Amino acid sequence: VRSDAVVLFGVTGDLVSKKLFPALYELTRRDRLDVPVIGVARSPWDDQQLVTTARKSVAEANDEIDDETFDALARNLSMISGDYADPMTYQRLAERLRGAERPIFYLAIPPAVFGSVVEGLAAAGLAERGRVIVEKPFGRDLASSHELDRTLRAAFDPERVFRIDHYLGKEAVEGLYAFRFANRLFEPLWNSEHIDNIQVTLAEGFGTEGRAGFYDTVGATRDVLQNHILQVVALIGMEPPVADTTDAFREAEVAVLRQIEPLSPESTVRGQYAGYRDEPGVRPDSNTETFVATRLTVNSRRWAGVPFYLRTGKSLPGTATEVVVEFKQPQRSLVRAEGGAEAAANLLRFRLGRGDGITMSIQAKSPGAEVASRPVDLSVDFGAALGHRQEAYERLLDDAMDGQHLRFAREETIQQEWRIVEPILDLAAPVQPYDRGTWGPADADALAGGWHAPRLR
Ligand code: BG6
Repeated sequence: VRSDAVVLFGVTGDLVSKKLFPALYELTRRDRLDVPVIGVARSPWDDQQLVTTARKSVAEANDEIDDETFDALARNLSMISGDYADPMTYQRLAERLRGAERPIFYLAIPPAVFGSVVEGLAAAGLAERGRVIVEKPFGRDLASSHELDRTLRAAFDPERVFRIDHYLGKEAVEGLYAFRFANRLFEPLWNSEHIDNIQVTLAEGFGTEGRAGFYDTVGATRDVLQNHILQVVALIGMEPPVADTTDAFREAEVAVLRQIEPLSPESTVRGQYAGYRDEPGVRPDSNTETFVATRLTVNSRRWAGVPFYLRTGKSLPGTATEVVVEFKQPQRSLVRAEGGAEAAANLLRFRLGRGDGITMSIQAKSPGAEVASRPVDLSVDFGAALGHRQEAYERLLDDAMDGQHLRFAREETIQQEWRIVEPILDLAAPVQPYDRGTWGPADADALAGGWHAPRLR
């Protein structure tokens, strides 16, 4: 059964304005949403304030608003203000949801109130017939993530819990799966015999953007390495699923995570950009990393001896999410590189952020009498080749309303992710400073022995 009401807890927050209102608007436009959308928050908002905020956030995400579509969404919006610990809040919600058979609850709320909301829903009899969407942070470490799972499981049937990692909802990220398993071309080379190393970069050219208070309690490892980057690693590293089913896909994904060794502090570099400690909400002696680079090992036959280098940071030279697969040199080199230089390796570069696409660097014969080679790029821009693609949150909401689990993380997936990052959480060693607009501390350069610079935007 498709969900017949959407309830947004934490409706006054950042996530809802940035991502969820635009997604609801898009779903309305595509005739995928015409059900009550109820916002819940502690702030004393009325329906009008909710509509005004929704309009503003839709306007920010779109060049122009289609009034008819927005009005259709606005007619479905209503607000409940109340304390999350107060049973009355849930009674009023239950009242409004009378007649809804399969409401879906989106918990865009801070971890501190998570328990009260889940218990409130259960006590009001809403959990037994509802679906629930949860967002990171899924706890702060392995132990607290188990606790969170217990809280959820006590109230909701596991079949009705949807854990969002929005990277899994991105068409460009899903494209990694299609690239590998819809093509014959590269899969035979997808192993340690032909691949030298793999690099994943999630770079952001901006700082904490007004979220410093939150960010300071989290840091780069918890914010994006534990989840988004490891999801990308899983898609690159996974074995082919045994079948074309949701279960088989999710099993293959968790299987490769199980084979990843816990990260080690010795091969991890943590950095903090200059000026971070002066931002409002940041502790003056904060040791929170705004940059992390590390080496990851997948302990499988396929990846034996192939390092995965991962890095992410804020206030870097620009914004890009890229995977670079670096191939080994030809078994026997018969063609010299131009000018006697060392031949550049073949690279397969997946651009996963805005302006997504694939660029492959290959060697071509350089012009002239000599038989020598130089690197050239074969490149495709998916926006130009494929046209408009959907936004992650739009697809994820749509899926969850349908009860489809394909693009949602399993409980064990998240636990494995915590297991992998746990040794590098909250390290006592001081973070290394770096200047804004640089690639992090110098030690990070040495880690990979040559990062391939991403195409920035
Ligand atoms: C979020 C993090 O999960 O992902 C943010 O909390 C980060 O700090 C964002 O900026 C990156 O996502 P995207 O879709 O912009 O690449």
